[in-house]
Amino acid sequence: MDDKLNIVLIEATTRKLRRSITVARLVEEIGKEFNEINTIFVDIDDYMPLPGEGNDPESQDKRWIEINKKSDGYFIVSPEYNHSFPGSLKMLMDNDLGNYFHKPVVIAGVSIGQFGGVRMIENLLSTLRMLGLITTNIDVPFPLVGKTFDGSEEGNKLLEGQKERIRKAFIELIWLSKVLKSGRQGVPFS
Ligand SMILES: Cc1cc2nc3c(=O)[nH]c(=O)nc-3n(C[C@H](O)[C@H](O)[C@H](O)COP(=O)(O)O)c2cc1C
Repeated sequence: MDDKLNIVLIEATTRKLRRSITVARLVEEIGKEFNEINTIFVDIDDYMPLPGEGNDPESQDKRWIEINKKSDGYFIVSPEYNHSFPGSLKMLMDNDLGNYFHKPVVIAGVSIGQFGGVRMIENLLSTLRMLGLITTNIDVPFPLVGKTFDGSEEGNKLLEGQKERIRKAFIELIWLSKVLKSGRQGVPFS
């Protein structure tokens, strides 16, 4: 055991040809620049289908519950599907109702077009809030995902900008994770 913060990084779609996995792996790489965190990579494809939703042991995936028990924060990388987030992400989040409270979350939205999943981000916020998570004011919209990784000069320029945005998001997530962890441990909640 070390005293690093456990940041759960979720790749939120099971789509076979998903491009968002490249973004999630990039986020994982950038996370390695921050010594104070352990990143736990959750590929949602390893969890689907789940036996159900909710708190009863028959419906829960124990791997997910154990991860949530030790988590200090979340970085969700999700594509925008029909202006919202994939159903598999909703199912995963709904599989645990007890272990998200007072933990921060950052959202990266991924799209092939120019909007970077901002409509998905707006939709996801209310679900995360209901689960007890603390949402950050910094999002990572990731538009033009095809272009960004095509190796062209324009793509590389886009990529550099996106890396900076991911770093900023980590800085905010880590600060909130520290503050909320010390709050959970040190301030009685009644
Ligand atoms: C079912 C489905 C719905 C989609 N809906 C949207 C959408 O509402 N807005 C958008 O910008 N892109 C949409 N896309 C395209 C995604 O932006 C594109 O697939 C992108 O690569 C990110 O998703 P991926 O990780 O599945 O590749 C949709 C794609 C799928 C498969």
